Amino acid sequence: MATVGIDLGTYFSSVGVMTGGKAEAILNKDGTRATHSVVSFPSEKETLVGNIAYECEFLYPNETIKEVKRLMGKEKTAITVRGSSYSPQEISAMILKSLCSDVEREREFDEPVEKAVITIPAAFNSTQRAATLEAAKIAGIDVLGLAEEPLAALVANGNLTDYVGKCISIVDIGGGTSDGCTVEVKKDDHGKIILNCICIVGDSHLGGVDFDRALFEHILKKDFAGVSLNAEEKVELETKSEIAKRKLSEKMEVEFKVMVGGQRQKIHITRKEFEKAVSEELERVQKFLDEMKAYKIPDRVILCGGSTHVPKIEAMIKETFAGIPVGGENRELAVAEGAAILAQMYANGAEQAVFEKTDMDADKGAGNTGDDQTEDGQTDKGENGSGENGSDQDSTQMDLIPVKLNMVCSRSYGIGAFVHADKIMVCNVIFRNEAVPTVRETHSFVTSKDGMSECDFPIYESTGNERYVELSEAEKIGMCTLKIKGNLPKGTPLFVRVEAGIDGVLHFTGREESGNTEITAEFKTKTLLTEEELETAKQVVDDVYAKVV
Ligand SMILES: Nc1ncnc2c1ncn2[C@@H]1O[C@H](COP(=O)(O)OP(=O)(O)OP(=O)(O)O)[C@@H](O)[C@H]1O
Ligand SMILES: [Mg+2]
Repeated sequence: MATVGIDLGTYFSSVGVMTGGKAEAILNKDGTRATHSVVSFPSEKETLVGNIAYECEFLYPNETIKEVKRLMGKEKTAITVRGSSYSPQEISAMILKSLCSDVEREREFDEPVEKAVITIPAAFNSTQRAATLEAAKIAGIDVLGLAEEPLAALVANGNLTDYVGKCISIVDIGGGTSDGCTVEVKKDDHGKIILNCICIVGDSHLGGVDFDRALFEHILKKDFAGVSLNAEEKVELETKSEIAKRKLSEKMEVEFKVMVGGQRQKIHITRKEFEKAVSEELERVQKFLDEMKAYKIPDRVILCGGSTHVPKIEAMIKETFAGIPVGGENRELAVAEGAAILAQMYANGAEQAVFEKTDMDADKGAGNTGDDQTEDGQTDKGENGSGENGSDQDSTQMDLIPVKLNMVCSRSYGIGAFVHADKIMVCNVIFRNEAVPTVRETHSFVTSKDGMSECDFPIYESTGNERYVELSEAEKIGMCTLKIKGNLPKGTPLFVRVEAGIDGVLHFTGREESGNTEITAEFKTKTLLTEEELETAKQVVDDVYAKVV
């Protein structure tokens, strides 16, 4: 059974596989390792996915879907093309299917890709994470685990043993998201490496596509004031602006030509102009960096994501973390490679271990530690990881180092409830940057009528850490409905148990205090799919995918 790591990016997606104990991003059919996350429907009979969809966008500007990652967790009917509506999960599933087919072709796997670790921005909220899991389900992929992109990049960047005793900040500025984690790397008495995530900082709407948009607007104003571009001309200018942006990371000025109104027009742009055009976005990058630094000053900064190539951004990072080494290998592919390492580790049953080169005898065979009691009282399964579990890594170079990842929650989650007779506020139950998995029971709520059969709790998320948050500062993400059995009298106390899983997805259960009986809870968001909708989505995606050319 094929097992891979998938970086499902806003702009580019990549798939990592393990070969000979080394992670490697595989080539797509165009011979590149990064594939555009684009789907296009040129006709009722054809579907294009990947680079070909990106290249044909100018032919089908209204039938091409880009940046679907930004829609994850949003309305399930968010996308309409050729009169049909698609959920972001369905479009993402088509991208996932295409990536898996690249692996099958490239690696000549006899079996289809079935198991994968899929990466997500650390700052993704519970619904975005759950939507990603749904996309994988629709694509027929068994998800071994979701992994935060910065953490996958950390795993791919050098030996974790070298970082023991250090605090590492990973800054990932990609196509659509700016994301960061600060992680303390420790080693316990059994030789296990503990990655304690201290903070998740991020802006899931800030990345290369925003720089492209700002540059495009700047060029429109400068060179095409008062001119109305048609859809094709617009796509050409957008595409060439993005290429120009990348060239400006190397050069101080660039020139390119576009066809507008039947005439070729030359565009000249300088790096200074670009930096001015994206000044608002750069301010937001600075805010995110400052917030990250405020949590803890790291010993080292690792960069990943294509937009960290922008010289101004790299300079801002170096200035913010002045005196601290800043590095980062393979910034575009580190996430996919890290995901492949994590996927292999999960698939081997070594739930928390990574392969790495080691020459430290102390590390060798340190995996069979048996059950371990962690601080939070949870049993942490012993790893069978000493590099002898049948994997194809070169055992002379690679050992399996046991690793435990301690993650934190990317948002605060709470319930909207009356705090005074006339005031409803969000009462946070789980707090941002709190360790996950975590389980909380809310204060007591009471039934408002005799014999109620169900009771609704609106669920909100926010980025603040306060106990009570104004409704206006939080976003309602769904409703938790407690199904009450029996004929409870008015005023019966009810508890809601909220659990943020290791993957950051929320689960709810209820408890009725006097009888101590569990009450079933259903968490519904407008945006996640029901079992029935998932089945239909699989059919829709299979049908549409059968038309891929
Ligand atoms: N040399 C460069 N200079 C400036 N920008 C670049 C350069 N190389 C790539 N980029 C930009 O980086 C972005 C793609 O980076 P990456 O592949 O890391 O993003 P992604 O994984 O698709 O997005 P995300 O992780 O945010 O979902 C694009 O916006 C691209 O224009
Ligand atoms: Mg990325």
